[in-house]
Amino acid sequence: MEKSMKSNVVVYHSKYGATKEYATHIAKELGCQALKISSKLKLDDYEQVIIGAPIYAGSAAGIKKLKLNSQEVYLFLVGLSHPVNNLDIFEGVVDKLDPSIKEKLNETLFLSGSMDLNKLNFIHRQIMKMVSKSQEGGDLSKPINNIDFDLTKAFIKKIKNSG
Ligand SMILES: Cc1cc2nc3c(=O)[nH]c(=O)nc-3n(C[C@H](O)[C@H](O)[C@H](O)COP(=O)(O)O)c2cc1C
Repeated sequence: MEKSMKSNVVVYHSKYGATKEYATHIAKELGCQALKISSKLKLDDYEQVIIGAPIYAGSAAGIKKLKLNSQEVYLFLVGLSHPVNNLDIFEGVVDKLDPSIKEKLNETLFLSGSMDLNKLNFIHRQIMKMVSKSQEGGDLSKPINNIDFDLTKAFIKKIKNSG
């Protein structure tokens, strides 16, 4: 584990744990902390901020509270859409990002997460049941786990090399 020269931190939002798993892995590889996003989070001491956000209803969730200034930003988005086959969906999410994040973006990584219908809250479960009945929805009768840390390798390398 080789530490990047620049001071960096991973910050993330995660409702059911997939983004947290990726955040924890990336932070371990970079030798830095993984912190949950909250309004109290102070990022002024960091030169690089790696942001992890899950996609809910076509938008990156939970990152509005972030206060950034001049940091270099790396972003990983976690959704259930296939990151390669549905690149347009992920790009649509990036398009909608707040300019305060978008203008600082160095690199964006699209990842596939997980979903267990039984673990979702009532409203999310109803939404996903409806989605799974529609054409674009897949089979959600069994838990899905697409988490694959190998897909983070090139992203981590770029962050390390930028240090
Ligand atoms: C209500 C709801 C809406 C979702 N909307 C999207 C979506 O628009 N695009 C997508 O790719 N994945 C979508 N997902 C899948 C989540 O992004 C996926 O389960 C992800 O792993 C969640 O991350 P988390 O466990 O860190 O919260 C949705 C999931 C739920 C429950």
